[in-house]
Amino acid sequence: MNESTPPPADASPACSACEACPNRRDFVRWSIAAAAALALLPRNLRASPPRWITSRDGAGNLRYPVPSADGVEIDRSNEVILARTEGQIAAFALSCPHQRSMLRWRENDGIFQCTKHHSEYSPAGVYQKGRATRNMDRLAIRLEAGEVVVDPDTRFLSDDDPEGWAGAVVPVP
Ligand code: FES
Repeated sequence: MNESTPPPADASPACSACEACPNRRDFVRWSIAAAAALALLPRNLRASPPRWITSRDGAGNLRYPVPSADGVEIDRSNEVILARTEGQIAAFALSCPHQRSMLRWRENDGIFQCTKHHSEYSPAGVYQKGRATRNMDRLAIRLEAGEVVVDPDTRFLSDDDPEGWAGAVVPVP
């Protein structure tokens, strides 16, 4: 439709550009600000990579590909951390054992850190310092048919069950 074409008979009246309507410049400005904010998020807190597309089996277990190298991956949608280190793989609850705030992985420092009171933990989930009083909570884990199988509903607390906590790992195949 060019400028000389009249609007269709059933067209709504033209917008009067009231104060509540954002104009195109505002929209572009907001989009740039949102993109900048997203870029500032730590890498490990961004959307999970596609390899985390997983499913719960009939028993409610989560199944993940076996990590091919040492490192940490976070499945935010299921609040699970999977860490491969020291020849073992362990699964952790994403929440801090102190007051359940979210943990984050500080890749450059090689530690987990609580986002609330800043307690720190090793890659194996061992408490190092801060207000927390135990290690990160481990989840039941096993290897099955070439996958890591995690039961997110079975948690081992290092203070209540130190043997269960220590045993909640699988050797790197
Ligand atoms: S909630 Fe993590 S140290 Fe307090």
